[in-house]
This record gives sequence, C-alpha cells and structure tokens, in this order.
Amino acid sequence: MSIKAYVSFFAISAAVAHAQTFTNGTAGTCCDTLLANGLQHVYTPNDTFYQTRTSSYWSLAAQLHPNCYVQPTSTSDVVLIVDTLVKDPGCAGTQFAVRAGGHMPWTNANNIDNGVTVDLGLMNKTTFDETSHVASIQPGSRWGAVYQYLEQFNYTVAGGRAFDVGVGGFIMGGGNTFFANRFGFGVDNVKNFEVVLASGEVVNANQEENNDLFLVLKGGVGSNYGIITRVDMYGIESHQLWGGIAIHDKSTRPQHLEAHTYWVEHDSEYPPGSTVMAFTYSKALGNITVVNFYQDTVGTVAAPAFDKWLAIPRTSETLRLGSHFNMASEIDIPYGYRQILWTTTVRNDIRIYKRIAELHEQLLEEWKVEGGDPDFNLEVNMQAIARSFTDNGLARGGNIMGLDRVQDNVTMVLFIFAVKTPELEVRATEKLKLVAEQVEGFASSVDGLVEWKHLNYAGGFQDPLKSYGAENLEKMKAASAKYDPDSVFQMKSTPGFKVSKA
Ligand SMILES: Cc1cc2nc3c(=O)[nH]c(=O)nc-3n(C[C@H](O)[C@H](O)[C@H](O)COP(=O)(O)OP(=O)(O)OC[C@H]3O[C@@H](n4cnc5c(N)ncnc54)[C@H](O)[C@@H]3O)c2cc1C
Ligand SMILES: *[C@@H]1O[C@H](CO)[C@@H](O)[C@H](O)[C@H]1NC(C)=O
Ligand SMILES: *[C@@H]1O[C@H](CO)[C@@H](O)[C@H](O)[C@H]1NC(C)=O
Ligand SMILES: *[C@@H]1O[C@H](CO)[C@@H](O)[C@H](O)[C@H]1NC(C)=O
Ligand SMILES: *[C@@H]1O[C@H](CO)[C@@H](O)[C@H](O)[C@H]1NC(C)=O
Ligand SMILES: *[C@@H]1O[C@H](CO)[C@@H](O)[C@H](O)[C@H]1NC(C)=O
Ligand SMILES: *[C@@H]1O[C@H](CO)[C@@H](O)[C@H](O)[C@H]1NC(C)=O
Repeated sequence: MSIKAYVSFFAISAAVAHAQTFTNGTAGTCCDTLLANGLQHVYTPNDTFYQTRTSSYWSLAAQLHPNCYVQPTSTSDVVLIVDTLVKDPGCAGTQFAVRAGGHMPWTNANNIDNGVTVDLGLMNKTTFDETSHVASIQPGSRWGAVYQYLEQFNYTVAGGRAFDVGVGGFIMGGGNTFFANRFGFGVDNVKNFEVVLASGEVVNANQEENNDLFLVLKGGVGSNYGIITRVDMYGIESHQLWGGIAIHDKSTRPQHLEAHTYWVEHDSEYPPGSTVMAFTYSKALGNITVVNFYQDTVGTVAAPAFDKWLAIPRTSETLRLGSHFNMASEIDIPYGYRQILWTTTVRNDIRIYKRIAELHEQLLEEWKVEGGDPDFNLEVNMQAIARSFTDNGLARGGNIMGLDRVQDNVTMVLFIFAVKTPELEVRATEKLKLVAEQVEGFASSVDGLVEWKHLNYAGGFQDPLKSYGAENLEKMKAASAKYDPDSVFQMKSTPGFKVSKA
C-alpha cells in the first residue's frame, strides 16, 4: 500500500445534509441573464463540464446542484457577475454561493442547490514581484500550483499543507501552515486583499486602506463581505525543507501523546519546526495507525527539537529533504466520501489527550458494529498552536480570530469522519457530536477547554466565528454593515459561515 493511501489527516469535513431551504427563485433565468450579460463560462446541468465541476468538490456532501456554475476569469468578470446577481431583475430572488478550491466539506459551505455558484476555478494565476518579494495569487489557485510556480525564485508562501487545497477559503479561515511558528497563520502573511463588494466596487484592504475590512478578512471568511479576487502575500525565501510522513504502530500512541505534550510546550523554542500527530483508521489500514507529519522549514535534517518524536519506532517513513512543493505534493486526502469534521482547542494536558484517544477508539469500535459499511475513515489529529503563532500575527497587525486571548501554548484537535452515504452521514454526525460533548466535558472538568475553534477545521454544525469572542464578532458585524449595507452576502448568499448567524 502506498503511503498516500494512509494519509487521511489534516482533512476537514462535512455537516449533516441539513434541511436548510433556499429560495428556488428564478435561477434558471438568472443563468440566462449571466450569459446574456456577456459571461463566457456559464455551465448548466446539461453541459458535461457541469458534472466535472460538481465532482471537483472534495467532499460528497458539498456536491450540490446549482442551476449553473459561473466561472469568472478576471476581476472585471467578478464585478459583472456581482452586478448581475445583485441588480439585474433576471436574478431577483436568486441565491448564490462562492467557491474557490471547494475543500470546505459540509453541505451549503461553498455550493447551493437551485441557485448560482460563483466558481473561481479559472482565476488561478500567481505572479511574483522579485523586488518586493510579494506573491499575487488569484483565489481559485491550488496551493501546490502556487508553490511550484514560486520555486523558480527560491521563494514560497505560508499556505496550505496539502497541494490540492484552495487559496481563497484556506487563507480567510486562518490557516495553519508549516511556517506558523515563524510567521503566524496563513492569513498573517497577507499584505493585501483585492475585494469586489456587493456594490460592484473593487477595493483593496490592507494595513493602510480599508484596514477594518482587512482585519475581518484575516480569519472572518471572505464571503461575509464580498468576493476576494486577489491575495497578495509576503514571500518566504525557501530552498529545501526536511520532513515528511512517519507511520507508527497503534501501540506507540502513549509515547506519541508524551512527545506531543512536550512538543506543544517547547515548539516555539524551535521556530522552523512543525508537526501534526494523527491517529487514523481506514478500512485499508485495518487498525488504528499513528500517521505523523514532521516539517523543518529551514531544512535541518532531524534537528534535536524532533528527538522525542524520532525516538519512537516507525514502521515506514518518507522523511527527506525536498522543496515546499515536494512536501505538499505528498499530502493527498482521497475524494469520494462525505467528510464530517469537528474541531476544538484544549490546553496542553496529557490527561485530555489520553481521553481523546480513548474516545476516538471507542467511537471506532462502535461504528464498526453499528455503521453497516466498512468503507469509512475515522481520524483524530492534534496540532500545536503555540502562543508564538499569535505573537507572530500580532507583529503584523493581528487578525480577527481572537487567539490573543489565549496566553498558553495549546492544542487544536480535529476529528475527521468520512462515510459514504447521506444516511450514514446523519448517523455518524450524531455519534461524533456525542464524542464532542465528552471531549469538551472532560477538558472543562480539568480546566482545559479553550473557547477558540479553528474555522478551517470546523464542521457545519459548529460556530467558529462566535468562538473568536464577542468583541471580534462585533467588528465583523460592523464591517459587514459598512461594506455590504444591503446585507447581500448575508441574505442573498447564505452558504458558508456567516456573521449574521454566529
Ligand atoms: C486535504 C485537506 C487539507 C487541508 N489542510 C489544511 C491545513 O494544512 N491547514 C488549514 O488551516 N486548513 C487545511 N484544510 C482546511 C481548508 O483550509 C478549508 O477546507 C478551506 O476552506 C479550503 O479552502 P478552499 O478554497 O478549498 O475552500 P472553498 O470550499 O472553496 O471555500 C471555503 C469558504 O470560503 C469562501 N470563499 C472561498 N473563496 C472566496 C473568495 N475568493 N471570496 C469570498 N469567499 C470565498 C467560500 O464561500 C466558502 O464558504 C485542509 C482541507 C483539506 C480537505
Ligand atoms: C426547489 O426545487 C426543487 C427541485 O428542483 C424542489 O424539490 C423543491 O421543493 C423546491 N423548493 C421550493 C422551496 O420551492
Ligand atoms: C437538458 O436535456 C434534457 C434531456 O436531454 C432536455 O429535455 C432539456 O430540455 C435540456 N434542458 C436545457 C435547458 O437545454
Ligand atoms: C488553472 O486552471 C486551468 C483549468 O482548470 C488549468 O488548465 C491550469 O493548469 C491551471 N493553472 C494553474 C497554474 O494551476
Ligand atoms: C536558487 O537557489 C539555488 C541554490 O539553491 C541557486 O543556484 C539559484 O541560482 C537560485 N535561483 C534564484 C532565481 O535565485
Ligand atoms: C492492532 O494493533 C494492535 C497493536 O499493535 C494489535 O495488538 C492488534 O492485534 C491489532 N489489531 C488488528 C485487528 O490488526
Ligand atoms: C509557551 O512555550 C514557550 C516555549 O516554546 C515557553 O517559553 C512559554 O513559557 C510557554 N508559555 C506558557 C504560557 O506556558
């Protein structure tokens, strides 16, 4: 079995096929109107390319049936689309969704039944200014393509760890990256966003211009305020990284929990270092397996900071020197499942980690009996969120995620449950919610629960925007009222995490 087949971590996932009803409106007419107004790429269900775009969503739960996908190729196309959707009578009553890489896994995150989906897939170019070392990236790009392009300059950017993930969603949901310990979250590496507002106006949001909008875009999901058409990021000089995947037997879990506890406390003493520890199960694996990802972003081979991890026996590994693109290319989570995610954040306490490992195994054993379909994946992974990540972000003006409230070095916990059918998704979600209650109940009982949730890893039934804290929610609501006074992105575009629903 290839190592790729093992790797189901970092993932993200889905929500219940919940019963949200959208106005059917006159989306068929709206699609005709978009065509009539000069948009070149409008795909209705009868076009073969329509199915291609539907199946390009990572999670089956996000593969909905809009009346059409419309693909802009430029900022001016996006202006035309927004103007048509908002002002043309042909689109009155039509709801829309915005999609970049299509990796947010839950139903109604990035797609819509009986409406229009604005699909940014053709806006996937990257350019690099060799003087300022700023990369200008279109939101429909995949991170792998961005890294591959920047490699010729010996530069990279702090983006997603898996090559296939999209730029637009990842960057405005925070973004944990290999570089967080040096440069903060992905979004802390943004210098400027270009945004098309509901009015059709194109604005820049950065430290100098529209900085209230800039702040809320840094974690607060773009589709609350407009459509982001370009992301300018600070380049990072990059040659070789050292790292890869390390696979271990189930029996090593206790040593891994020890190593993780140590890592969380000492992570920021070694800024180039990054790890993800995952306990993973799939039918192919046949057993819980520890699948870890280690990275050293300056390319030191097996630096002493990794000693505790590397002392644990591995059954296989891909640890090596390679470019950022090379490292990202290895992280590939299979399509073809309904992906259910749940995330929380806890203090660095091994009692909590042990309880999480027990609950993961218990859920697995129950689901083997109750699920009825052996083809599922169930993983829990843990990622350090050192205080230094936040301090790195604050040094660049801060973001809207509210992690500055947390003084400690903490752990982000992510459950990923992948099943095949809507019916299994409903049941699996209910089971996962019970586990979630137990995890948070236990963490609370030892004073170890942290309010903040990482939006990029949140299930559709979670409320990550609220977890940023009341003050930040107020800022997001104020920016929504100021930049979208008619609430177009709250009322006419309901997919995604919305400030009006937080
Ligand atoms: C295999 C895999 C690996 C991952 N690895 C990581 C990781 O290492 N670190 C991490 O932090 N997260 C990771 N994630 C989570 C990932 O960041 C989120 O799923 C993110 O939403 C994906 O971005 P996207 O562009 O593909 O998403 P999409 O689903 O296209 O978009 C997500 C949301 O953002 C909105 N949006 C997207 N683009 C725009 C835009 N231009 N303007 C306005 N709104 C927009 C959409 O409407 C939607 O609500 C991973 C996910 C997967 C599946
Ligand atoms: C919307 O259309 C679908 C079929 O395309 C139909 O099943 C559904 O009932 C309609 N919803 C409303 C609210 O009219
Ligand atoms: C789509 O195809 C079906 C069957 O081939 C046909 O009945 C229908 O009229 C077509 N719709 C459009 C909008 O072309
Ligand atoms: C952009 O998308 C097009 C269409 O899918 C694809 O052919 C092209 O290779 C992509 N470009 C990059 C840089 O990924
Ligand atoms: C990139 O780095 C290599 C050495 O690692 C060097 O040979 C090459 O000239 C550099 N390229 C650029 C564009 O700086
Ligand atoms: C799973 O791994 C454990 C620890 O190595 C082992 O004891 C057990 O027999 C394995 N179970 C299966 C079904 O392979
Ligand atoms: C967080 O970790 C750093 C070292 O990585 C340490 O210096 C600091 O004291 C820790 N913070 C807390 C609150 O424990």
